Amino acid sequence: MKKLTGPFSQILPHDGLAMHGAIEDSALRIIENGGIVIENGIILETGIFNELYAKYPGITVEETTTQNVLIPGFIDCHTHICFAGHRAKDYSLRIQGKSYLEIAKSGGGIWDSVTQTRLADEECLTALLQGRVERHLSEGVTTIEVKSGYGLDIANELKQLRAIKKVSTSSATDLVPTCLAAHLPPKDFDGHAVAYLDHLIRELLPLIKKENLTNRIDIFIEEGAFSSNDARKYLQAAKVMGFELTVHADQFSTGGLEVALASGALSADHLEATSDKEIPLLKNAPTVAVVLPGASLGLGMSYAPARRFLDSGACLAIASDWNPGSAPMGDLLMQAAVMSASEKLSTAEVFAGLTFRAAKALGLNDRGVLKSGMLADLQAYSCNDYREILYHQGKMKPVHVWKKGIQIAEV
Ligand code: NIG
Ligand code: FE
Repeated sequence: MKKLTGPFSQILPHDGLAMHGAIEDSALRIIENGGIVIENGIILETGIFNELYAKYPGITVEETTTQNVLIPGFIDCHTHICFAGHRAKDYSLRIQGKSYLEIAKSGGGIWDSVTQTRLADEECLTALLQGRVERHLSEGVTTIEVKSGYGLDIANELKQLRAIKKVSTSSATDLVPTCLAAHLPPKDFDGHAVAYLDHLIRELLPLIKKENLTNRIDIFIEEGAFSSNDARKYLQAAKVMGFELTVHADQFSTGGLEVALASGALSADHLEATSDKEIPLLKNAPTVAVVLPGASLGLGMSYAPARRFLDSGACLAIASDWNPGSAPMGDLLMQAAVMSASEKLSTAEVFAGLTFRAAKALGLNDRGVLKSGMLADLQAYSCNDYREILYHQGKMKPVHVWKKGIQIAEV
């Protein structure tokens, strides 16, 4: 059945905006007094509310107040929200001056979350993930990528991926699972990093395929994690098996971005350490540059050079990296708004990075823009001017969220 939702003070459909490079706010098309026609969860048309009402006689109207600005639902294309426990101790050490890598070496870090996540059973992990997914949805995030990577052995990686699959069937939100078994060489694996990666290729990836748990593979390229050379071979083997690729690249040192580009990865994420030497490689690249301001805020480090990426012609997405260690906050809009003030991004660039450019990072082309044929994943903010959304630096949350045309009750 068709329905007409609105009227809205402004609709920002994000159509016609470039996939790569800088975008000025003047490029944003704004529909004043807008409405949106939805059928079976898909957008049929956006336009002026009264004109649509006249065009579809007798159409059911889903009324909103006129004080709303409508934009596409956000797409968080990088999270690690399938975990148990917390790392408040790490955070307290970091704010006293210890570095992320120092804390990892002295027994904290990712391995601590692995230990805590291994202790949780699948049911407990599912419940924890469900809670985080619902919180994100109520804040306008209608598609969420979720990584494993706190299992680091066959049984526990499968446990994480099964929990993600369960939540994706029980929640309205679309979850995009990614296997990050190559997060760290596990301390308890009998063999070196290369042997561990070989073990994943031979033992884990076929099981993931068989159970249809994910078609995406990630690896953390960094000192203390995996080298560029080892990662290149792992990614190549995963690609041959039919997996899509994404890479944790250039967080503290360079090398990862080049591997991501050479491997044909959908995205290269982090990039805080990416230098002038590598930035031009992103020009019109099919690989999306995903920046993670939540990790910079959590670690007290510089942001990735988002402005320079855009000016060099990159496709830039912004994600939360929500995880128990480097990015515990998980407020995507707040992080994007705060980063934009330092990095000097336009509102259009921030919105693009949270919607259709983030969809590209996940290989999805059916969302992120409010036009005919796209998913009706929508959110509305209580204001008359779209610029208020970033102006409140994340404190203004959506008053209505729709997933595939259905309004979420609790926002
Ligand atoms: O993207 N850098 C590697 N992995 C995560 C952090 C995970 C953790 O600290 O638990 C990240 O920041
Ligand atoms: Fe991450």
